[in-house]
Amino acid sequence: MQWFENWFDTHYYKILYQHRNDEEAQFFIRNLLKFIPLNSEEWILDLACGRGRYAKFIHHLGYKVYGLDLSKKSIIEAKKFENSHLQFEVQDMRNFYLPQKFQLILSLFTSFGYFENIDDNLLVLKNVYEHLLPNGYFVLDFLHSDWVLKHLVPHETKLLNNIHFEIHKYIENQKIVKKILITEGTQFYTFYEKVSLFTPKDLQEMLEKTGFKIINQFGDYELQPLNSESSRIILWVQKV
Ligand SMILES: C[S@@+](CC[C@H](N)C(=O)[O-])C[C@H]1O[C@@H](n2cnc3c(N)ncnc32)[C@H](O)[C@@H]1O
Repeated sequence: MQWFENWFDTHYYKILYQHRNDEEAQFFIRNLLKFIPLNSEEWILDLACGRGRYAKFIHHLGYKVYGLDLSKKSIIEAKKFENSHLQFEVQDMRNFYLPQKFQLILSLFTSFGYFENIDDNLLVLKNVYEHLLPNGYFVLDFLHSDWVLKHLVPHETKLLNNIHFEIHKYIENQKIVKKILITEGTQFYTFYEKVSLFTPKDLQEMLEKTGFKIINQFGDYELQPLNSESSRIILWVQKV
């Protein structure tokens, strides 16, 4: 089993990332939608939507939203909010298929770069491209490699909800690896996150190779311009 197939499906992921909440998602979406021209008749896809914190809010703003994720437990939670204009489904981003085309596809909060094989990452982009309407938009929100390297904390511990998390971060094979050791009572678990340290240039090249035109690049959730100090890389591209 690959790391992303079980870690995101645990309640430990939810506890460790509890600060990545609705408030953060809503702040980002409000800023993003000031830039992107949208039509309330066409659908938006939140790829790797998790429990749907972005999808639910975009729907609340009056749009039709579909959310896909590999994590069954996340989709079960998201489905509690379903209606005819807010739909969720378990699918793998490498080979997802939906009959409709989208005006906007989102990949938010580092939901990319998980695969060993670079071709699988390109497959995701190709699949996104194919699911867009003509001139449709894609937004990729990814870690900023320089920022990650500069702010890397090799070891830290956290006590959350009476669960002890010991986290080791290191670079291995051009990936940022987070090794998460968990102690809950007498139970011990180890999980990993392994994300390719794609630079802004790598991402731009992969997107352009897929056929996208870059419209704008932002460096954080306030959507300030991207620079070498930025904490995120947020690429807004268009199908041409
Ligand atoms: C860092 S989380 C972000 C979730 C969501 N975008 C958010 O910010 O709340 C990454 C998500 O990608 C999903 N994921 C991992 N591999 C996937 C795959 N191959 N296909 C679809 N989703 C995947 C995980 O289950 C997880 O929900």
